[in-house]
Amino acid sequence: MNFFTLKFTGEKLILIDQTRLPTEELYVEYSDWREVAKSITDMIVRGAPAIGVTAGYGLAMAAQRAVKDGVDFDGLMEEAYEVFRRTRPTAVNLFWAIERMKKRAAALKGNSPAKIAEELVREAHAISDEDVASCKAMGKFGAALLPDECVVLTHCNAGALATADYGTALGVIRAASEAGKKISVYSDETRPFLQGARLTSWELMKDGIDVTLICDNMAGHLMKTRKIDAVIVGADRIAANGDTANKIGTYSVSILAKTHNIPFYVVAPLSTIDFSMESGDEIPIEERSPAEVTAWGGVRVAPEGVKVWNPAFDVSPAQNITAIITELGVARPPFKESLAALKKGI
Ligand code: MRU
Repeated sequence: MNFFTLKFTGEKLILIDQTRLPTEELYVEYSDWREVAKSITDMIVRGAPAIGVTAGYGLAMAAQRAVKDGVDFDGLMEEAYEVFRRTRPTAVNLFWAIERMKKRAAALKGNSPAKIAEELVREAHAISDEDVASCKAMGKFGAALLPDECVVLTHCNAGALATADYGTALGVIRAASEAGKKISVYSDETRPFLQGARLTSWELMKDGIDVTLICDNMAGHLMKTRKIDAVIVGADRIAANGDTANKIGTYSVSILAKTHNIPFYVVAPLSTIDFSMESGDEIPIEERSPAEVTAWGGVRVAPEGVKVWNPAFDVSPAQNITAIITELGVARPPFKESLAALKKGI
């Protein structure tokens, strides 16, 4: 891969600015943990696993800051947990990573703040490394489900840009390609933030994987008129029954796939499964600024003052999902049982 999503230098976090892609490949350096939190809200970094990893590093940076400034360590960390919790509501990996960092800090109680900060950096690195290893494992499990020659459709960006590296849905595509399978990808543009147009097509082209961009409203016609072997998407939060929240528009694609008898695969690490939620009805859906819908790149595409509704995610019901591919294996319906069985392996 000749780009990176995030890198921690020991003191600073470097992020590729995903709001600038594909026109500019710009890397931004962060030395202030509050700015790291803001980078999640502003979607400089986005994608469920990537924001979890970023929060991990951001919390390690908060701990380092508390040590440098000699302020109340526990007080500053409590504030930092809360600031990161408020960045974005839907992707559960964020909350999972915050809880993991918090638990690690609690286990180290009694040590000096400097020692705790050092260990929190280690923990953030572990979260990041495990994310890459999970993506590689999901890639292998997913690639095995695809025929040797295949055409797939993906929605949003669940690639290297949405993880520490390699990707979930795009990890499966990469692994299939690395295994010598001839794979072609259709990428939904993914209005309004254009993750498919700006990010998925950019990263697949960089890897030399065949990609064709379509507008979101072309997916039905695509499935009706061309042979699509599978739909492969990522997830932001999966309820215990398999209902899956992912980027807005995924729900419509899941219905289309079901209608056209096309396998619909969700690829996500176990950290994306929220076993505390019985069904997708409980998943909080982020609503973002109307400005994302009424303008792009500073150009207005709707009349001034028009009313806008901008939900950023939707929930695909479990009955539309063929399988959920995790790092520990492939879960099939009924998901309540198959996901619970995989959880035992964590
Ligand atoms: O709003 P975003 O860009 O953070 O949404 C991202 C998605 O919906 C991805 O499909 C999901 O996080 C999975 S990323 C491996």
